[in-house]
Amino acid sequence: MINIAIDGPAGAGKSTIARSLAAKLGFIYVDTGALYRAVGVNAMRKGMDTKNAEQVTSILGDTKVSLRFVDGEQRVFLGDEDVSLAIRTPEASMAASNVSAIPAVREFLFDLQRNIAKENDCLMDGRDIGTVVLPEAQVKIFLTASAEVRAKRRYDELLAKGMKAEYNDVLEEMIQRDYQDSHRAIAPLKQADDAVLVDTSEMNLEQVLEALETIVKEKTGNEF
Ligand code: DC
Repeated sequence: MINIAIDGPAGAGKSTIARSLAAKLGFIYVDTGALYRAVGVNAMRKGMDTKNAEQVTSILGDTKVSLRFVDGEQRVFLGDEDVSLAIRTPEASMAASNVSAIPAVREFLFDLQRNIAKENDCLMDGRDIGTVVLPEAQVKIFLTASAEVRAKRRYDELLAKGMKAEYNDVLEEMIQRDYQDSHRAIAPLKQADDAVLVDTSEMNLEQVLEALETIVKEKTGNEF
């Protein structure tokens, strides 16, 4: 199987780019952030403090998270409930970042991610895919952009979805989440030694896609 790992901070454009690239390559796109979001939302719903490792760990036994692919689109489920939309709120983002620092949560989601990659040509995005989940991935890309550009993109995205947002709040939340994600003790956000760095601050979607396609072709020797 061909596995492509795309890591980077929130709002770097990972999901938009990864979705387009995966469609072009005929690979499935796995958004691992959705898994942490589902665990975070579940903990919030159960009234847990999402920063409290003991509380969050205590409900993992009853937490059933799964991914299904419908027409190539990933849907994330909590038990039988499709929570693909419910996990996209700013509260869910912060809850995801909080629970993702808990070792038991990372362990809980590890096999699920590995098994998908073992059975499918896939493009997986997250924070620790190239470093921890798929260290042997044939292609590793670290996608980033300045915090201001990333906040503006996320802000536009929220407005487009009809959600209310303030740019400054989005920026502040993004900076806090980046700090948390890159300073946690376990599997922090970090560029793998063998990952190619792509800074998208000054690039549009087509340019990023083209750059990534070139990297994938070079690394895999495939034309697709
Ligand atoms: O990619 P995202 O913004 O949906 O991710 C939500 C949170 O989940 C993010 O702040 C950190 C965490 N996460 C992680 O720790 N490891 C991953 N592979 C993916 C996401």
